[in-house]
Amino acid sequence: MSIIQNDFQRWTADKQQRIETLLDSILPPVEIAPQRLHGAMRYAVLGRGKRIRPLLAFAAGELAQADVERVAIAAAVTELVHAYSLVHDDLPCMDDDVLRRGKPTCHVEYDEATALLCGDALQSLAFQLIADYRLADEPAAQLEMVKLLAIATGSRGMAGGQAIDLESIGKNLSLLEVEAMHIHKTGALIRAAVLFGARCGNSLDDEQFGQLDRYAQCMGLAFQVVDDLLDAESTTATLGKTAGKDAGNNKPTYVSLLGLSATRDLALSLRGDALDALGSFGAQATRLREIADYIVLRKF
Ligand code: IPE
Ligand code: IPE
Ligand code: MG
Ligand code: MG
Ligand code: MG
Repeated sequence: MSIIQNDFQRWTADKQQRIETLLDSILPPVEIAPQRLHGAMRYAVLGRGKRIRPLLAFAAGELAQADVERVAIAAAVTELVHAYSLVHDDLPCMDDDVLRRGKPTCHVEYDEATALLCGDALQSLAFQLIADYRLADEPAAQLEMVKLLAIATGSRGMAGGQAIDLESIGKNLSLLEVEAMHIHKTGALIRAAVLFGARCGNSLDDEQFGQLDRYAQCMGLAFQVVDDLLDAESTTATLGKTAGKDAGNNKPTYVSLLGLSATRDLALSLRGDALDALGSFGAQATRLREIADYIVLRKF
């Protein structure tokens, strides 16, 4: 990477550092029992990771002029849920992956039972944070955040999307079916991360919130479209996770349906839709626009 960082890179590095420090302080120390489980939780969360959901929460928080201390907690909540989803996604009963973020997966480093419990405990910790900290001015608004996250992660959100993913192995899905799978397994949490950031503030009216939501939904889908693309065209060394797993596991993806070039076009078109949705915002949406570029043009 170039030593000269642009403004967005500096912002990103600053927020990534902030979230790392916060997660480190939130996660139970390994010295406290049960030590093995706490070790696994820290192993799964800390270290390498793009922290895209926290970055989206921070950027949406800036749009909504939210207090950054509040947004940081909301951002940590989304990353804890995400880390849990990765630990479970990698289990032998799911994608059966051995490499994640450049390290052995949680169940390889520890064991399957610990990885299962690690995911459970990370999800519980995420919800505990929303109870421990004030994130919105009104208690009712904070309760809405609990509901938003529960729906985004449950059977009508991420867990449901993962169920569709597993049911689809070896099947020929239609484009609409792949879209639905991706919107649920990945899009729902990314959308929740954006809305979480915005809910920490209260400067957006309903119409603006709707526009932000449209951005969030486009980027949530785009993120998994690009994940499919990278799985097919990048390398294990670059990704820090095993490349070519989707084809190896016989998963229907955008790449298996459309090929590389049309999948790339789709990602770019979703970015266009996301940017259009932000059309009525000014400079306060700059970070969200930059993240849209980053999500679609990223190399890992
Ligand atoms: C990978 O997520 C899993 C998907 C939902 C596509 P990320 O690409 O955000 O993984 P990390 O957090 O950077 O490792
Ligand atoms: C993961 O999708 C979605 C969730 C973790 C909810 P993938 O299975 O494609 O993610 P990677 O490629 O293993 O990171
Ligand atoms: Mg998977
Ligand atoms: Mg996977
Ligand atoms: Mg993938």
